[in-house]
Amino acid sequence: MIRCPAFLPFQTSSSLLGFLSICISRFVSPNMESPIILNYFTSSLSCFCMILLYASTLNPVFALENCTFPAIFNFGDSNSDTGGLAAALITPTPPYGETFFHMPAGRFSDGRLIIDFMAKSVGLPYLSAYLDSLGTNFKHGANFATSSSTIRLPSQIIPGGGFSPFYLNIQYSQFVQFKSRSQTIREKGGIYANLMPEKDYFPKALYTFDIGQNDIGGGSFSNMTLEEVNASVPDIVNNFSTNVKAIYDVGARSFWIHNTGPLGCLPYILTNFLSAQRDSHGCAKPYNDVAQYFNYKLKEAIVQLRIDLPLAAITHVDIYSAKYSLFSESNKHGFEFPLVACCGYGGKYNYSNSVRCGGTITVNGSQIFVGSCEHPSVRVNWDGFHYTEAANKFVFNQISTGAFSDPPIPLKMACHRV
Ligand SMILES: *[C@@H]1O[C@H](CO)[C@@H](O)[C@H](O)[C@H]1NC(C)=O
Ligand SMILES: *[C@@H]1O[C@H](CO)[C@@H](O)[C@H](O)[C@H]1NC(C)=O
Ligand SMILES: *[C@@H]1O[C@H](CO)[C@@H](O)[C@H](O)[C@H]1NC(C)=O
Ligand SMILES: *[C@@H]1O[C@H](CO)[C@@H](O)[C@H](O)[C@H]1NC(C)=O
Ligand SMILES: *[C@@H]1O[C@H](CO)[C@@H](O)[C@H](O)[C@H]1NC(C)=O
Ligand SMILES: *[C@@H]1O[C@H](CO)[C@@H](O)[C@H](O)[C@H]1NC(C)=O
Repeated sequence: MIRCPAFLPFQTSSSLLGFLSICISRFVSPNMESPIILNYFTSSLSCFCMILLYASTLNPVFALENCTFPAIFNFGDSNSDTGGLAAALITPTPPYGETFFHMPAGRFSDGRLIIDFMAKSVGLPYLSAYLDSLGTNFKHGANFATSSSTIRLPSQIIPGGGFSPFYLNIQYSQFVQFKSRSQTIREKGGIYANLMPEKDYFPKALYTFDIGQNDIGGGSFSNMTLEEVNASVPDIVNNFSTNVKAIYDVGARSFWIHNTGPLGCLPYILTNFLSAQRDSHGCAKPYNDVAQYFNYKLKEAIVQLRIDLPLAAITHVDIYSAKYSLFSESNKHGFEFPLVACCGYGGKYNYSNSVRCGGTITVNGSQIFVGSCEHPSVRVNWDGFHYTEAANKFVFNQISTGAFSDPPIPLKMACHRV
């Protein structure tokens, strides 16, 4: 049995890279300037040990294999709703879906969402919404997200208010029910059996989360002041953690958790809070500050979750920064008018509370249809609330590499606890 010598772990992967290349060159060209045999042997041995140790503990990207995720189970709001709210309560109408699906497809965008690109990139089909009773296939996962969902119990629900009744704790309950009933259906056989995930898909699946935006954004439209919304952030994040733990307790192991985006850059916030302070890119600073406070508390909570859930691989994804670059460097990334809705009506931000994308408004006696702008492929915001397919694709490309993740591992490797 070889005993590896003690060593100080390298702090950065570039120093490791340097070390590895020295190791490799020694293995590859032992005759070159290599000193006496014994030295060569011991340095090779320590190189070998170093690689082994590093591979197993330190740098994820080096040693890790791509994961095989047989399924994705997603929890969230409209950022990742692939048809839940549409099936249950409110169906988007044209021009929603026009860019990719060429018809409304249950998504609040002109095309695909980040979760669609994620599913595709790990070799899985687009997720069916759990609430959709028509033509759905849950073999490779289910989507519990619904548009306008919150983490905490909402004060007012559709149609009496703006929020989805399917807040995170309900989504969790639906998942628990799905997990057990899907197996009953498999055991029965018949035409539905093959539309259900296999039992061992559940521990191997990727569990994805993108929720919190409506707890912050929605609070701003209730009686709460922004300071009160901000003060409720620790409670919101606690409630998020409670749900993640509950999902772990029923067998989930790989978690991919998005933080919340820059709320203050969205036309509906900009229009409704015209006097809120703007940052250098025109976003409403106080709203982004609250979003960032949420993200700070979320990051803290995830550190604790890693301690509390010893078998979980939890990847935290800073989607805020990826999305913010659409506003701070929009031209560089090929986008224009990032603060203006592509499909909306009126005002500086092409957004109005009284008529939304897909609706009609009577102006000077004639009816105007609120449709798409000319080039949604170079636009960031679709309808005042949601991103375009082009923006979603950009954000997906940014985050899937691991560049915005903690630990810094790509989506394909998110099953590994590092
Ligand atoms: C992992 O996936 C990437 C991207 O698809 C691919 O380039 C790479 O070869 C894969 N690695 C392994 C070890 O299969
Ligand atoms: C989470 O929210 C639910 C419903 O609003 C509530 O019953 C529960 O006590 C909350 N949990 C935490 C930890 O805040
Ligand atoms: C605001 O407060 C009033 C009085 O307390 C209440 O009737 C109303 O429902 C509240 N509105 C919202 C949006 O919470
Ligand atoms: C939110 O609350 C935190 C903690 O009290 C505070 O540090 C921060 O300044 C607050 N942010 C805003 C925008 O009110
Ligand atoms: C409606 O009519 C008024 C008066 O003719 C005109 O000033 C205004 O620009 C018109 N609005 C639109 C949207 O055409
Ligand atoms: C605003 O929305 C309308 C649809 O009502 C669209 O035709 C127009 O191009 C949009 N304006 C901008 C600047 O995107």
